[in-house]
Amino acid sequence: MRTPIIAGNWKMNNTAKEGAALVEALKPLVKDAACDVVVCVPAIDIPAVAQAVQGSNIRLGAQNVHFAQKGAFTGEISADMLLEYGVQYVIIGHSERRQYFGETDETVNKRVLRALEAGLLPIVCVGETLSERETGKTEAVLLKSLTEGLKDVQSPEKLIIAYEPVWAIGTGKTATAEQANETIGYIRSVLAKLFSPAIAQTIRIQYGGSMNAGNCKQLMSMPEIDGGLIGGASLKPMDFSAIVHFDK
Ligand code: 13P
Repeated sequence: MRTPIIAGNWKMNNTAKEGAALVEALKPLVKDAACDVVVCVPAIDIPAVAQAVQGSNIRLGAQNVHFAQKGAFTGEISADMLLEYGVQYVIIGHSERRQYFGETDETVNKRVLRALEAGLLPIVCVGETLSERETGKTEAVLLKSLTEGLKDVQSPEKLIIAYEPVWAIGTGKTATAEQANETIGYIRSVLAKLFSPAIAQTIRIQYGGSMNAGNCKQLMSMPEIDGGLIGGASLKPMDFSAIVHFDK
């Protein structure tokens, strides 16, 4: 059995003060959650949020990590910098990083390998654009992203995959539960080939893209969907808590 994992991706929202306040509001609401609860916060919020989550069941995540241990990479954040504050998870290859910051399957792979080596749990994002879906390229795009992005991974059981169809992010358009389940099933079949069928059964695969309090139950009831990566709805304590309690 795979433990469900609901992770908030705050993106570029919340100052450190606002982030700490959001976590304070969230703590009592999610304290009895049956799933893993994670907030992936802006790098500069990490010290304040690390303090706020102490003693709670909320785990801390970052939104990116560099692939070098240290060095001349202006503006970047290393795994060691994250680990010092108790960060456990890191989003890698979000479509916004791919679209606006030149992230490729190759750089995703370098970051995944570094994260695993350092002891961080990567949340690796993959997903097709609307035109790719409409022209029947969804599986080809996912196959390439997974094959190249997860190349040389030695501890695949530590991975979390987030299936985020680009056309569903921030648009209010959600993939139907059946669509998401089918595509995540395909992702699992690729993982079975890359690693092994047994390992593929242990890897948690989240859905992301306009997941909210209203549609989370249906999405989470699907057998292949093991969690959610939540953007907009993770900024509101009541909404995020409702998703965390999808089973209630
Ligand atoms: P929304 O939930 O705002 O659509 O964002 C999804 C996402 O990109 C999470 O990483």
